[in-house]
Order: sequence, then structure tokens, then C-alpha cells
Amino acid sequence: MKKLNTSLRSPAAMAMRDTFAKRIVNQSEAVDAYTDVLEKFLSGFYDKTKPIASYLFIGPTGVGKTASAEAFVEGLTGNPKQMLKIDCGEFQHSHDISKIVGSPPGYLGHRETHPLLNNSKLMSLHGPKSPFAVILWDEIEKASDALWNLMLGILDKGSLTLGTNETVDMTKTINLMTSNVGAKESAHAVDGGLGFATPGTDITDSGELKTITTAAARRKFSPEFLNRLDAIVMFNTLRPEDIDKILDMEIEKLHQRAFITVILSPAARKEIARLGYSRRDNARFLQRTIDKHIVVPVSGGIATKQIDPLDRVIVDVHDGLFEYHIGV
Ligand SMILES: Nc1ncnc2c1ncn2[C@@H]1O[C@H](COP(=O)(O)OP(=O)(O)OP(=O)(O)O)[C@@H](O)[C@H]1O
Ligand SMILES: [Mg+2]
Repeated sequence: MKKLNTSLRSPAAMAMRDTFAKRIVNQSEAVDAYTDVLEKFLSGFYDKTKPIASYLFIGPTGVGKTASAEAFVEGLTGNPKQMLKIDCGEFQHSHDISKIVGSPPGYLGHRETHPLLNNSKLMSLHGPKSPFAVILWDEIEKASDALWNLMLGILDKGSLTLGTNETVDMTKTINLMTSNVGAKESAHAVDGGLGFATPGTDITDSGELKTITTAAARRKFSPEFLNRLDAIVMFNTLRPEDIDKILDMEIEKLHQRAFITVILSPAARKEIARLGYSRRDNARFLQRTIDKHIVVPVSGGIATKQIDPLDRVIVDVHDGLFEYHIGV
């Protein structure tokens, strides 16, 4: 008899995890969930009458729920945008649902309302090695009852009927639903909701936070919805050291794009983190801060030929102002 090695991963899953490691920090539960879904698909070991997988992602703002979905499809297809993103907040009224399914023939505007979801749209999202479509249902707590019913039908029957009576096959989809439910309760538990924690409080990897968040999800979402999910994945709050790693990843991207080496002084790192990170918003404003204080000034330097490829740019901060020094 041979013992099964349950930690072994397929080459496809390893490649996807590689992309993840370059883009997403401190979300191991999410990485494992994505690995599981890929292995499940590759093994063919799933119910073919329903979507391949349906996950609920919960956690505070700016921790990588959307970015992880992009890293997943980038790992599969090379393109981080190769998915259908449905902002549930845009479908708060029941009549908005026609934007997703189109209107029945005979209705005013029937010809103009192209359904967001249809068979050819889903097919166009398939990758050569990943014949399925990834659908990101963002901020599902904002969905109207009509959208809920539509989602329940998809999760249950693996199909969707359009206004034209055409049936959309949803069995080759992976549905990722994101929500901030429980974020407020978690923030309150950590720091009284003030946005800064007592020194020494470890707010990540905490079983207690998971319990609070899961309880909030159970209050918010109906059992019939939760029972149809394959898993609820909780995203961690980001720590200052995670921000440092994200900063390094962004600088590496710059290096690959323009062959420019950017070096941040400790003061510059600290200032970027101060401007772009908070315990409440996590990394939500980090990208914007990096753009403003690193990408834009360096691009300007390249465009005006003050910076050449292979140059090194040292970014520093003096008296609260960013300074840029060019060296070879
Ligand atoms: N864990 C992470 N690893 C790397 N980058 C991250 C991470 N979390 C957030 N970021 C950065 O912050 C930005 C915002 O993250 P993202 O949009 O994924 O947040 P979110 O969890 O979806 O938040 P929201 O609930 O507000 O939609 C990303 O574009 C990325 O640059
Ligand atoms: Mg998001």
C-alpha cells in the first residue's frame, strides 16, 4: 500500500501559487482556497450540474479580496482582468436585474439591453488551460432581493434563464463573492473602532476575529445562501510588515517595466506607509500613494530624460517632503 501525499500540488496549481506569491501577501487561507478549486477542477471530481465552486470572501476593506481574484485569473490566463466583475451595488433595485439578464422580447428597450451574462461572454473568459469563467460578485451585501434570487438559482441549478428565454450554462463558472460583513464588528473588537490598536495586540491569525466575522455573516446572509457555498474564506487584516512587502512588490514591478532601480530610504518607506496604510483601510490607498510619490515623479524623470534605463533612483524624505536622487 502507498500512502497518499496530501500536500503534493499539480504543476498548474504550483504555477498559480507562484503568481500569487508575487502579488498577494499574508492571505494563506485565500491561496489555499484558490489551490483547492483548481485541483478540484483538474481532477474532474465535482458536481457537474452546479458551478465548479462558489466562495464567499469576507474581510475588511483593502486586504486583497479583489486583488486576489485578479492574481488567480492572471495565474491561469496571464491577464488579471479576464473575469466578469459584477458590482452588486449597481443592482440595488429589482428592475436593475434586466442589466444582467436582458429584458424579455416586447419590452421597451429590449434591443438595447444586452445581458451582462450570456453564453458567449462566459466562453470568452475561458483560458486555454482553464476552460471556465471566473465571476466576481463584488459587495454582495448590497444586492437586491432580485439579485439574490438570481444568485441562489445559479448556485443551485448551475443555469440562468435570460429575458429572451435563452439558458446560460453556469456549470463552468467559479463564483467569488466578496463582502465586508463583520469588518465593523472586528474593528470594534480590536480597538473600539478607532482605527488604531493597543500596542502588542495581534489582530491577525486570531480565531476570535474569525468567530466574530463568521457570526456577522450568519446574521446577514440567509442559511439557504450559506448552505450553497463551498467555503467561506476569511481575509486577514494587513500588518505594517505586510505593507513593506507590498511596497517591495510594487517597486519590483517598476523595475520590470522600465529597468529603473528604485531604492527607498527608511524615512521614505515610513512616510509611504504613513500616507497609504491604516489599520482600518489596510492597503486600500497604498497604490495611490505609491503612484503619487514614486511612479509619477520617476516617470516624469524618464520622460524628461533626467533618468536613463539602468539608473538608480534613491527616494528619501526630508522635513516631510519627498526628494529623488539619481545615481548609476
Ligand atoms: N494582501 C495583499 N497583498 C498585496 N496587495 C494588496 C493586498 N491587499 C491589498 N493590496 C493592495 O491594495 C489594493 C486594494 O486591494 P483590494 O481592492 O483587493 O481590496 P479589497 O479587499 O477588495 O477591498 P474592498 O472590500 O474595499 O473591495 C490592491 O490593488 C493592492 O494594490
Ligand atoms: Mg474589492
